[in-house]
Amino acid sequence: MEYALAAGLSYLSGSVPWALLIVRWVAGVDLRSVGSGNPGATNASRVLGKRWGAAILLLDALKGAVPVLVLPRLLEVDGPGDESDAWRHLAVVCGAAAVLGHVFPVWLKFRGGKGVATGLGVTAVLHWPGLLIGAAAFALVAKTTRLVALASTVAAWAFALTCAIDCLLVRPGLFGSAGWSLAGFALLTALLITARHASNFARMRRGEENRWGGQDLKPT
Ligand code: G3P
Repeated sequence: MEYALAAGLSYLSGSVPWALLIVRWVAGVDLRSVGSGNPGATNASRVLGKRWGAAILLLDALKGAVPVLVLPRLLEVDGPGDESDAWRHLAVVCGAAAVLGHVFPVWLKFRGGKGVATGLGVTAVLHWPGLLIGAAAFALVAKTTRLVALASTVAAWAFALTCAIDCLLVRPGLFGSAGWSLAGFALLTALLITARHASNFARMRRGEENRWGGQDLKPT
C-alpha cells in the first residue's frame, strides 16, 4: 500500500510540466512548437535565456528529489540508520515514478520530456558518487562538443555504470542491499533517456543538431 501511494504521489510530482508552464506564462509561447519541441529546461533556455533555463532545471530536478527525500520517511517504512533497506527500495520506486511522470505526464497525453533533469534530482539524493561521475561526464562532453543531448545521454550511462560497479565490486555498496534496485533503475533510466533522444541523434547524424549557444532549430 505504501509503495502504491508513494509511486502515485511521485508520479504526480514528476508530471508537473514546469518548462511548458513557465514559458507559456513568461513568453506566451507553447514550448512544443519552438526549438527542439521538447518541454524541458534546455529548450526553455532557447526561448527565455540561460537564467530561466537554470531555474526550470532546478524545478525539474526538485520534482524528482523531493518525493525521494520525503515520502519514504513520511510513510514511515523505516529510515536511514535502520537495518532494513526498505526505505531505500521505496526511494528507488519514488525516483522511477517521478521520472516516468516527467516523461509520460497524463496532463500532456503522455508526451513529456526526456527525463534528464528529473533523473538528475533523483540521483543527487540517492547516489552522490554516481552524481559526481555523471556530472563530470556531462561537463566533459558538453565542453568538447556543445551537444547537450549527447552530454545528457553519456551522463545517464556514466551514472548507471557507477551504480552497477558500486553494487558489483563494493561490499557493502553505498546503497546497501538495495544496490541492485538502484542499478536496475539507473540502467533502465539510461535506456529511456537514450530512446527519448532519438530525434537528437538523428539530427546529429545529419549535422543539424543545435549546439549550446548556437542557432535555434525548427520544431521537429
Ligand atoms: O534534457 C534534454 C536535453 O538533453 C536535450 O534537449 O531540447 O536539445 O532536445 P533538446
